[in-house]
Amino acid sequence: MSDPRPIGVFDSGIGGLTVVKALRELLPNEKIFYLGDTARIPYGSRSPITVERYSMEMADMLTQESAKIIVVACNTASSVALPKLKENLLVPVIGVIEPGARAAIAATRNGHVGVIGTRATIKSGAYEQELRRLSPDVRISVRPCPLLVPLIEEGWLDDELTDRVIARYLGPLVREGIDTLVLGCTHYPLLVHAISRALPKTVSLVDSARNCATAVRELLVQEQLSAPLANSAGLEIALTDAPDTFLGVARRALQLDIGDVQLREVLHAVR
Ligand code: DGL
Repeated sequence: MSDPRPIGVFDSGIGGLTVVKALRELLPNEKIFYLGDTARIPYGSRSPITVERYSMEMADMLTQESAKIIVVACNTASSVALPKLKENLLVPVIGVIEPGARAAIAATRNGHVGVIGTRATIKSGAYEQELRRLSPDVRISVRPCPLLVPLIEEGWLDDELTDRVIARYLGPLVREGIDTLVLGCTHYPLLVHAISRALPKTVSLVDSARNCATAVRELLVQEQLSAPLANSAGLEIALTDAPDTFLGVARRALQLDIGDVQLREVLHAVR
């Protein structure tokens, strides 16, 4: 059994392209339709009810594009909206939290994991809940890092000021003794070099984008939804507002062949 329909991926903006990059490397014959809600980014500073509503609207738009599964390539949306999405959609839905937490538990040697993300992600407690479900005795230190997304969108990926902000955010986690750090925001893989510089060599980084792609591959096999081997892979990108400079930053940093970007108006669902 195989299925040529696209994998639908959504994020609050362009950061979720880190997940697309990982998906393309791992599943080169799958078609991907990516939807970025650039009209309403950031989700990370909004209330759970608003993030839930926005996420349902993005998922409905992907369903209209015949998505065979929906990948929530946004930690904020995965943290607060996954139960509602799973309950309401007819296709399988996968987020970034569970794969990231699973990889962190596999990586830690001293049983102490750090998690960084947006305020909404950290406030939701979703990573703590998942980490504890997988390993009840794990120690967890969390830190919201709201300044990192704007620095990334500005393209300051290798910059002294960004290094100082990272050091200030991560210093307490390192002093508390973490040996594994989950990058709990789909923007953060773009800062992987700067974050590695700020950490002792003994701390392992868990990139939620890459681990999510591995989980998508497993889900496709399990649900018999993998594309036929001869499928013509392609990447379509649609945004809810005109792209800004960050698309150029992401394109360069990820070396992703992005092509033309479509504009889509948000379809407001009545539920
Ligand atoms: N992509 C979001 C996430 O992974 C960060 C940007 C936002 O605040 O919307 O949490």
